[in-house]
Amino acid sequence: MTKVNKTEALSGSHTSFSEAIIQWQKKHGRHGLPWQQSRDAYRVWLSEVMLQQTQVATVIPYYERFLASFPDVISLANASSEQVMAHWSGLGYYTRARNLHACAKQVVKEYNGVFPPEPELLAQLPGIGRSTAAAIAAFSYGVRAAILDSNVKRVFTRAFGIDGITSSKAIENELWLRAESLMPEGVKQIQSYTQGLMDLGATLCARTKPRCSDCPLQNRCVALATNRVADLPAKKLKRAIPTKKIVMLILLKDQHVLLEKRPDCGIWGGLFSLPELLFNEQGMTKQASLHIERHFGHLDSITPMRKVLHGFSHYKLEITPYRCNLTARSNTISEDTHVWYPLEQCEQAPLPAPIKKLLLGMMA
Ligand code: ADE
Ligand code: SF4
Repeated sequence: MTKVNKTEALSGSHTSFSEAIIQWQKKHGRHGLPWQQSRDAYRVWLSEVMLQQTQVATVIPYYERFLASFPDVISLANASSEQVMAHWSGLGYYTRARNLHACAKQVVKEYNGVFPPEPELLAQLPGIGRSTAAAIAAFSYGVRAAILDSNVKRVFTRAFGIDGITSSKAIENELWLRAESLMPEGVKQIQSYTQGLMDLGATLCARTKPRCSDCPLQNRCVALATNRVADLPAKKLKRAIPTKKIVMLILLKDQHVLLEKRPDCGIWGGLFSLPELLFNEQGMTKQASLHIERHFGHLDSITPMRKVLHGFSHYKLEITPYRCNLTARSNTISEDTHVWYPLEQCEQAPLPAPIKKLLLGMMA
């Protein structure tokens, strides 16, 4: 590999790093996004939490529906957990929704319904990490605070040629120091700068096929100058992803389906889902029938349906749904954990996306 002098690569421009980002943001960054139309901290917070693990295009309709139902932090704090989860249904990473609800309650209780402008205080609220706290402080209050989300980490590791796993403590610390020192000096441009970093990371400096020839940092980017764009940020070794096989029971009686509340921790925590059993290759239909007769009611018919695959960050879930018509419901089902839900209202239910899709597909 050719070795390029680092100072040479960095001296390609006389504009400062922040100035290059700010100028680019004003001309080529994103401006019309719904949450950019307001500096209301509630709206900024909501959008930042939704955008933590979800792309802009997916977030927009959720953001709008959420605001229509919960226009301010008080209405969100007063909502039931089922209402909040139903509005998050399909966005994934449901811990965010539970933290969001807890955070709203805390802001009402401790801060009289007004988000504090200090990033250090914001970062103590549920679901708000250091970077999200800085983004909220900068966007809603014009506070000079540094962000560092995974997109910004990618920009920094490439622009400055930083090797090593970005989630390691050492690299993380180095990146935070960069983030702090690269900010524009005054507070005047902090919004454009912060938005510009996010936009650059989400658009031009994409994970694959970055568009370096359009990039405002191309004259100073170390990765570009040393032909390491594809190698940075360094990739973590990936474990093999296991598959978990389960059966889900679609228990039907009089146009109602039995939904089961999931425990607050673990996948889909706080949402409703279908009752499940571990999948077994042998005699599964028989096992399922016995389980149903014991716990849920008397069976009329039971039919296996097409398998559904769903990917999580750490494993794959292979679901074999069984469609079960009951002649009678058991009267010992706990009302704390189960609900007979009208089939035609499933669209609005607090369900994970693949389960909602399964139920809607079955009715079509
Ligand atoms: N990703 C995280 N925050 C964002 C924002 N404010 N605008 C666009 N994308 C984002
Ligand atoms: Fe990213 Fe390419 Fe810009 Fe470097 S020049 S910051 S790799 S888009």
